[in-house]
Amino acid sequence: MKEKEEKMKILSKEIENCRKCALFKTRNNVVVGEGNLNAKIMFIGEAPGFNEDMQGKPFVGKAGRVLNELLKHINLKRENVYITSLLKCRPPNNRKPLPQEIKYCSEFLNKQISLINPKIICPLGSYAMNFIFKKYGLDSKKISEVHGRVFRIPTLNGILKIIPLFHPAFAVYYPDKKTILMKDFEVIKKLNK
Ligand code: URA
Repeated sequence: MKEKEEKMKILSKEIENCRKCALFKTRNNVVVGEGNLNAKIMFIGEAPGFNEDMQGKPFVGKAGRVLNELLKHINLKRENVYITSLLKCRPPNNRKPLPQEIKYCSEFLNKQISLINPKIICPLGSYAMNFIFKKYGLDSKKISEVHGRVFRIPTLNGILKIIPLFHPAFAVYYPDKKTILMKDFEVIKKLNK
């Protein structure tokens, strides 16, 4: 356990000092991620927004409030999962991540996944889903077609389950869509027994 903490500390420093893409010029804080390093479930968002950039923590704005509600809906505590995003720095005006930014920043995400070694990965939104699908050799799909479905990947550590989910911001802009997210989160609850 101590060893994992030490490794994450070193990785966090590496991420905080990153200047590989231009986002370091406009960021206020790097948002490495937070949660339990032994988490069974890992949530991966797209990129920090305004509030995350100001506080240096993932999902603390409007989308974060929705995520908290969804976690509560399935009796999961934030501190028992690990939450991060594909990009660790906020793109100006919350624009979408650029391919080069994903290329550089996902090296950190890959290291976080190796360290945490979750049993279930939930990419939130199409950017995280596309990255995770490609990483694990799954054919690319539309999130509207596969949200809430379980993809099983055999690994050396057993079966890894991937459950793509709509980004919680989806429910901020379209509140009636929260029901879809709630149903999809119930899939996680069933698997996490
Ligand atoms: N959206 C994300 O994808 N990540 C965050 O940390 C916040 C909002």
